[in-house]
Amino acid sequence: MTSTNDIRRSFLDYFVSAGHAEVASAPLVPFSDPTLMFVNAGMVPFKNAFTGLETPPAPRIASSQKCVRAGGKHNDLDNVGYTARHHTFFEMLGNFSFGDYFKEEAILHAWTLLTREWGLPPERLTATVFHTDDEAFDLWRRIAGLPESRIVRIATADNFWSMGDTGPCGPCSEIFYDHGEHIAGGPPGSADEDGDRFVEIWNLVFMQFDQAPDGSRAPLPRPSIDTGMGLERIAAVMQGVHDNYDIDLFRALTGASAELTGTDPAGEGRASHRIIADHLRSCTFLLADGVMPSNEGRGYVLRRIMRRAIRHAHLLGTREPLLHRLVPTLVSEMGVAYPELQRAQALATEVLQREETQFRRTLEKGLKLLAEASETLVSGDELAGETAFRLHDTYGFPLDLTEDALRARGIGVDHAGFAAAMARQKQAARAAWKGSGEEAESGIWFDIAERVGATEFTGYANHTGEAQVQALVRDGEEVGRAGAGEEVLVVVNQTPFYAESGGQAGDRGTMRTVAGAALTVLDTTKALGRLHIHKCRVDAGVIVTGDSVSLHVDDERRSRIRANHSATHLLHAALRKRLGEHVTQKGSLVADDRLRFDFAHPRPLTPEDVAAIEQDVNAEIRANEVVDTRLMRHDEALAAGALALFGEKYGDEVRVLSMGRAAEGGRSYSVELCGGTHVRATGDIALFKIISEGAVAAGVRRIEALTGEAARQWLVDRDSIARAIAGMVRTTPEEAVDRVTALIEDKRRLERELAAAKRELAMAGGAARNGAADAAVSEPVAGVPFLGRVLNGLDPRELRPLLEQERKAVPQGVAALVTVFDGRATVAVGVGETLLQQVDAVHLVRAAVEVLGGTGGGGRGGVAQGGGPDGARAGEALEAVRAALAEQLG
Ligand code: ALA
Repeated sequence: MTSTNDIRRSFLDYFVSAGHAEVASAPLVPFSDPTLMFVNAGMVPFKNAFTGLETPPAPRIASSQKCVRAGGKHNDLDNVGYTARHHTFFEMLGNFSFGDYFKEEAILHAWTLLTREWGLPPERLTATVFHTDDEAFDLWRRIAGLPESRIVRIATADNFWSMGDTGPCGPCSEIFYDHGEHIAGGPPGSADEDGDRFVEIWNLVFMQFDQAPDGSRAPLPRPSIDTGMGLERIAAVMQGVHDNYDIDLFRALTGASAELTGTDPAGEGRASHRIIADHLRSCTFLLADGVMPSNEGRGYVLRRIMRRAIRHAHLLGTREPLLHRLVPTLVSEMGVAYPELQRAQALATEVLQREETQFRRTLEKGLKLLAEASETLVSGDELAGETAFRLHDTYGFPLDLTEDALRARGIGVDHAGFAAAMARQKQAARAAWKGSGEEAESGIWFDIAERVGATEFTGYANHTGEAQVQALVRDGEEVGRAGAGEEVLVVVNQTPFYAESGGQAGDRGTMRTVAGAALTVLDTTKALGRLHIHKCRVDAGVIVTGDSVSLHVDDERRSRIRANHSATHLLHAALRKRLGEHVTQKGSLVADDRLRFDFAHPRPLTPEDVAAIEQDVNAEIRANEVVDTRLMRHDEALAAGALALFGEKYGDEVRVLSMGRAAEGGRSYSVELCGGTHVRATGDIALFKIISEGAVAAGVRRIEALTGEAARQWLVDRDSIARAIAGMVRTTPEEAVDRVTALIEDKRRLERELAAAKRELAMAGGAARNGAADAAVSEPVAGVPFLGRVLNGLDPRELRPLLEQERKAVPQGVAALVTVFDGRATVAVGVGETLLQQVDAVHLVRAAVEVLGGTGGGGRGGVAQGGGPDGARAGEALEAVRAALAEQLG
């Protein structure tokens, strides 16, 4: 028997030997194509090569492409497990020509591979062509020698293939394999073609058109070839089985689920085993390509598939989670062809187990409710939409799960009733929101969110992406278009632009429409917690709702934001380590040029604290550990020790960010819940520098810090300052501190010396300089020795020491000194010890102050001081002191 793995290999080898380049499967999520939920055909990654927008990697290519058909134009979910050939996940083998060869060579290769290489009997093969395609008809006759009876003209859309509502398309020719008379059914185009005897195995699409959203078709630059052969179907043919689920690969998977549940894979639980095998493949591959279960968009499709599989695991009688235990079998079957499965094995196991554990909590109760509500229904009846909605809302039953559960009994679900119940609930949520007094604008966002759903954020791993414009808002109103010079708020279906939240600044960048309109994205914010609002300025052209746009985040700015955000987490952890567990986040700002972190702590940090924290953070940066992100339930994450971030609103699932080296117990240096964007490894932060620490409120401290280039630049600036100082004191920066200290000491010494010299000079030469006035004022007053002096230019601070000196020298006398410094006079009076009872220094000083044009003056213990602006009247002031003294003594 040729294994599925061998068939895949031999297909690729055949086309490589025919000059094709082998290209690895693209990821399942076409982030570069907003019109598609998942890659649903082999040609999807080459869409732009067909339309001429991009150069193909080679003129002819072969691949084995992972495909998911669940949600969107091609959706097989409902039939999986109940038919022989429906899958949510399958592999499509394909050969592609980008204007290199066309119908003839495509038919030649298909025929050669099938009949020569693989040896399928020609008489088992039938071809179809689009009814008007005489060329293909003739080629089948000439190349394959097929009789005309086995070349069937088909007029329907079956023979006109298109990728989706838009994109490359063209007439096609399908090859059918006749499984034999023992199976009912007729050839394609016949009355009983719906039977299962003739199975389409290969579709050759003659790509000729590009379909626009309005349905019109423009010719492609060059006629091209796209072919698709379901690997599972051809494996069935080559392994001599009729049912895809009987090929080696599926037998391995259903064998594993049979063994783990102790049930018969072909018995009563046959459909369940098949559903589990199929769904396990789509879920694990989706997880490996970065889709996580959620309540919106792709994540919700994944969750629906998972929950459907979980119900079937439950049906098989398991009471413990089953799906994750099948992952090893899948990896051993497919991990060589798809190494991403091996890499994602741990993650997929963890997520599957968690999702199953969680859903099983409500599954049984929901099933009980379903059983009761449908008890009286019979085949052909419908379950009330209200009940289906309750199952959805309260028990987490996706609608398709409820339908699947009723399928065996021939009971349907009232879809209109379900939709009405859903609409009523949304209305109530809207009313509650409005009542809460949130922004008046929210009404318009509600309308948009209801119409278009949540914006899918694709920016954890990407800086660029394609999207479709879903709404344009200006001045609080939806507008259909916006032109050059206008500012407009743009909502798209998926975006790599991070919307401001959790302290992290919104992204900036550019947006371009296919028609060439150019917009600058000035900021990105969030509305209702689920719409990303791009605040844009239209620089050129016109943007219209429905346009396809390419989005480009300013990635240098984003890298700085990433570094600052990750550094904030490390800082938080370092603070707790150094200061204690009471440190909790009170706020944070993660901008592109700096980070700011507010936290509870009752005291200023010492310089040693700051140095130690900075050192710790930098040690983690240098350790360069990869940053790990996981999705967990909120309570689980907290139980695992994650710190909740300030201001985040959490849904069911949270992202848990672990960074830094593992400490005791295996816990990473920092573990936090966070929806922000982060560095890949801590080394990307490069450098961390705290530039300030201060208080913002009682008990709340604030640290500001820089990372990477900004931190380096800050240090460079500091270095230039140090060099400038060193240059001024004529030394090196290393010696500058000693040199400046010495200079300061020198200066102090010189000041002291200068003051002493001035004092001496004042006392020694003052009398001479002041001539007669000095002599006059130094006559005794009523027999009491009096010393009066005007000391020009003496620093007033020197006055008191001089006065004390005089006062001690003449304990039975009175001294009065006036200095005129910068035009202003200061006067000090000292009364000798023996006169303290008779003479009041304050009284004397006030007499002088009055003459000097000042007010007040005071002192105690026989010494008083005052002053006034009238420096020219210093001599008169001394006379006034004398007069006042005479009065007191008299
Ligand atoms: N794109 C073609 C298909 O998916 C080959 O059938």
